[in-house]
Amino acid sequence: MYDRPVRIVAICGSERHNGNTDLALEYAGELIRERDAEFEVIHLREHRISPCSPCGDCNSRATSCELRDDMPGIVDRLRQADGLIYATPVHGFGLAHLMQIFIERAGVGYLRFERPLANKVGGIIVTGRRYSEASVHNQLVDNLLLNRMILVGSGFPALLRNTEAQPGLNDEEGLDALERMVHRMLDMCGLLRRSQGEYPDDLLPSYDRNERIPRRRLPV
Ligand SMILES: Cc1cc2nc3c(=O)[nH]c(=O)nc-3n(C[C@H](O)[C@H](O)[C@H](O)COP(=O)(O)O)c2cc1C
Repeated sequence: MYDRPVRIVAICGSERHNGNTDLALEYAGELIRERDAEFEVIHLREHRISPCSPCGDCNSRATSCELRDDMPGIVDRLRQADGLIYATPVHGFGLAHLMQIFIERAGVGYLRFERPLANKVGGIIVTGRRYSEASVHNQLVDNLLLNRMILVGSGFPALLRNTEAQPGLNDEEGLDALERMVHRMLDMCGLLRRSQGEYPDDLLPSYDRNERIPRRRLPV
C-alpha cells in the first residue's frame, strides 16, 4: 500500500532481559507485525549512554552534544520511524533510571535544537506493581508532547501491572489498553502517510525554531 512499510521503533528502559517491559514490547511487536508494519526495539541497557555532565554547554550552544557515546546513533534510529513507543518500568515512584538518563541526554543534547521527532506518532507503555505508574505515564506524555509528537487517544493508558515475582503478562486490562494503543498508532501512521502523499509540503508544519536562537514572531 505504501512505498515502504510503516515503521515503529520502541525505546525500552528496563534493565531486565525478558522482564515485564520486554514482554509487553514483544506483544506490541506481534501486533505491529501482524499489520505488516516494521518494529524495532532499542534496549537502552545494551547501549553506552553517559548521563548529562556538569558542562552546561547545551545552554549556550545551538548544536548537538559532543559527549561521545551511543546517543547520536539512537537518535538517528528514532528519526527513521513513523511511530515511537517509550516503554519503561516504574522505579522508586518515578522513571527507571535508563529511561530518565535517555530523556535528559536526548532532550537537552539533541532533540531541543531541531525537534526531529515532530509529527511522529507516540505511544507509552509503563510497567509496575501499582505505585505511581500514572506519574511516570504523565512525565512521558509531557516529554512526547514537548517533542511535538502526536499522541492518539486510544482509551485507558497502557499501564501494565504485575505483582508476581516472575515476569508475566497477566494484567488483562493493561493488555487491552496496549492493544488499543498499538492499533490506533498504526491507524494514525497510515493516515499521515496517505496525507503526506497528497500534501507533502504543508502537512503539519511545526512552526519550530532552535530554542537556542532568540525568539521571533511565528509566521502566520
Ligand atoms: C528498584 C525497583 C524499584 C521499583 N519501584 C517501583 C515503584 O515505585 N512502583 C511500582 O509500582 N513498582 C516498582 N517496582 C516494580 C517494577 O516497576 C515492576 O516489577 C516492573 O514491571 C519491572 O519491569 P521489568 O521486569 O521490565 O524490570 C520497582 C522495581 C525495582 C526493581
